[in-house]
Amino acid sequence: MTRHRLAISSDLAAIAALAKAGTPYPWSEHQYRGSLEAGHAVWLAEDETGLLAVAVILNAAGEAELLDIVVSPACRRAGLATCLLQQVIQHLKQAGATRMLLEVRQSNAPAQALYAHLGFRSCGVRKQYYPSANGLREDAILMEKQLG
Ligand SMILES: CC(C)(COP(=O)(O)OP(=O)(O)OC[C@H]1O[C@@H](n2cnc3c(N)ncnc32)[C@H](O)[C@@H]1OP(=O)(O)O)[C@@H](O)C(=O)NCCC(=O)NCCS
Repeated sequence: MTRHRLAISSDLAAIAALAKAGTPYPWSEHQYRGSLEAGHAVWLAEDETGLLAVAVILNAAGEAELLDIVVSPACRRAGLATCLLQQVIQHLKQAGATRMLLEVRQSNAPAQALYAHLGFRSCGVRKQYYPSANGLREDAILMEKQLG
């Protein structure tokens, strides 16, 4: 059975290993530690086999931002990201957040489909925002969801 909980510092190595296995642009353990230390909510999904997914959320002044999400490659298209983000959104609403934002690479169709599935709408573009392969850069699509 999948459980959700907030990460603690002893989870950081496993989180960084999941990210490395799960995305071509992984956060480092140092970046996840920085998020924990900054007070971001680092949410985990896990079962008896171990860590399945991570999502990092910044919530300030009623506005939340999804900073990172990775699901283990072996566990995709099983609703894990949907479940985790629905739980996160529930917590954010209870904490008084009224809007949630995120940025996603223009080329990342799976993530954009996930966010649309959860009710996020595209609200802008940040040109050449992300570094990508061969020294090139890639646009970020901004997406938002009203939580109120
Ligand atoms: C994007 C990601 C988090 C999705 O996680 P997931 O657990 O597989 O997503 P879900 O199973 O909850 O998918 C929910 C819906 O999103 C859409 N979706 C998810 N993955 C998709 C894909 N590869 N292709 C098309 N649609 C997809 C579908 O509408 C899906 O519903 P369906 O399976 O009933 O059709 C996962 O692919 C991932 O970790 N990718 C690498 C890291 C990454 O890109 N993070 C986002 C950075 S902005």
